[in-house]
Amino acid sequence: MSKAQKVAVFDTTLRDGEQAAGTRLGSRDKLTLARQLARLKVDIIEAGYPASSPEDFEAVERIAREIEGPIICGLSRAVPEDIEACGKALAKAKRPRIHTGIGVSDIHIQGKFRDEKYGKTLGEKKVKMVRMAIDAVKRARTHADDVEFYAEDSGRAEPPYLYEVLEAAIDAGATVVNIPDTTGYTVPEQYGALIRGIRENVPNIRKATISVHCHDDLGMAVANSLAGILNGARQVEGTINGIGERAGNASLEEIVMALRTRGDYFGVTTGVDARELFRTSRLVSDLLGIVVPPNKAVVGANAFSHSSGIHVDGFLKDRETYEIMRPEDVGLTQSRVVLTARTGRAGLRARLEKLGYSLAKEELDVTYQRFLTVADKKQEVFDEDLVAIMHDELHPVPEAWQLEYLQVSSGSSAIPTATIRLRVNGEARETAAIGNGPVDAVYKAIAALAENSAKLVRYDIHAVTSGTGALGEVTVQLEKGDRRVVGRGASTDVIEASAKAYLDGLNRLAYGG
Ligand code: KIV
Ligand code: ZN
Repeated sequence: MSKAQKVAVFDTTLRDGEQAAGTRLGSRDKLTLARQLARLKVDIIEAGYPASSPEDFEAVERIAREIEGPIICGLSRAVPEDIEACGKALAKAKRPRIHTGIGVSDIHIQGKFRDEKYGKTLGEKKVKMVRMAIDAVKRARTHADDVEFYAEDSGRAEPPYLYEVLEAAIDAGATVVNIPDTTGYTVPEQYGALIRGIRENVPNIRKATISVHCHDDLGMAVANSLAGILNGARQVEGTINGIGERAGNASLEEIVMALRTRGDYFGVTTGVDARELFRTSRLVSDLLGIVVPPNKAVVGANAFSHSSGIHVDGFLKDRETYEIMRPEDVGLTQSRVVLTARTGRAGLRARLEKLGYSLAKEELDVTYQRFLTVADKKQEVFDEDLVAIMHDELHPVPEAWQLEYLQVSSGSSAIPTATIRLRVNGEARETAAIGNGPVDAVYKAIAALAENSAKLVRYDIHAVTSGTGALGEVTVQLEKGDRRVVGRGASTDVIEASAKAYLDGLNRLAYGG
């Protein structure tokens, strides 16, 4: 029996995922996530786009310096400034990779390179793109032996031109060629054929690995990626929870579990430790403030739940009647250690580490006090409670707006009324307001006190644990001018959690967090 070939897993949660999340992660959060991705054993972490901002540069640099194991990659356009920034940011990486490239579809070339300096006609521009691709790869090779070339919008490109660009990029030194379906336009048969066509028509293709990078605009990113693998791609790109531009990227957890569960069909393996998938998914959701839908494949809260009578009956008789994967395979085993108010620091630290948070001693001390406050209100503190607590610890912003007092009255025949006292830069302010519901009343009162013109663009509430003692977690998105921030609040009282989330958002707007 021949040994199954390995498909390298390229995670771009920190670049393509974060870039579209409506919020930016600081370098500390990115590092936390990169550590977890290393535990997940992805092969490549795309840590960011260093030329895009000083924060992104710093994040890539920190990850390159501190994370061992996976290859650390930075993105650049095919321009010298971007490539130099990547080279600098990755200088301390043990295994650096520069990911550079250019648009190859007529739509991209004509739309993005209108300036006559790129050529007057489409034909001239296409010649120029090939030149830019070659120069970019050569320059990148002066900083790293490992250079990945992306042919942006390959899904809508003319195949013969795509072959020509890829051949030139490989000749210039590209070790990996990435074939993005940037707009999620293709369907699996077509995308698979595109990869097959590349293997058959690019003369030097054996010198490079083909990578698939699919977007989910038509809901086919995972299917397209798998079709690419079936046709010879040996690297797959995607994000945890499928976050990313517009409808998102291919979900890595789905691809990994598809390749594993249907190894009989795909005949390839990955090096990913699937037991880390659930934990990674929750960390991404927490840090970026994007809730995982309960029915999400592999990592959704209901992915391994059975409720209808027929299903439960069958499942109890034989698990395999309704389950093709085991929850343990993705890290969903319920830990038997119960966290309560009597749990010590060591127990808390061990559980936090399992959840992906490594804390310094002082951080643990602060977190422990928060933990005790929650534990005093609840019989048992669940993992989800801890994640909610950690959010507050990981995202500290100076609290110009602090909640001092909150009282709400509402009922089936009462007008919801909220009385609020805030401490605003040390000064106490109090008011009352009525609203359509208790949360609306609270938000109206806070808005009046804050005299703020921030717009509430999103409000999500979710009980992070089951039972009436659950910790409620509220996520809001506030917008002011061209800035948008995420505010979060957690409490066993959902009205208080709502107020905290709103104030957290206001504090972030005030402090640029
Ligand atoms: O979707 C895309 O084309 C990309 C490239 C920049 C790799 O993300
Ligand atoms: Zn992309």
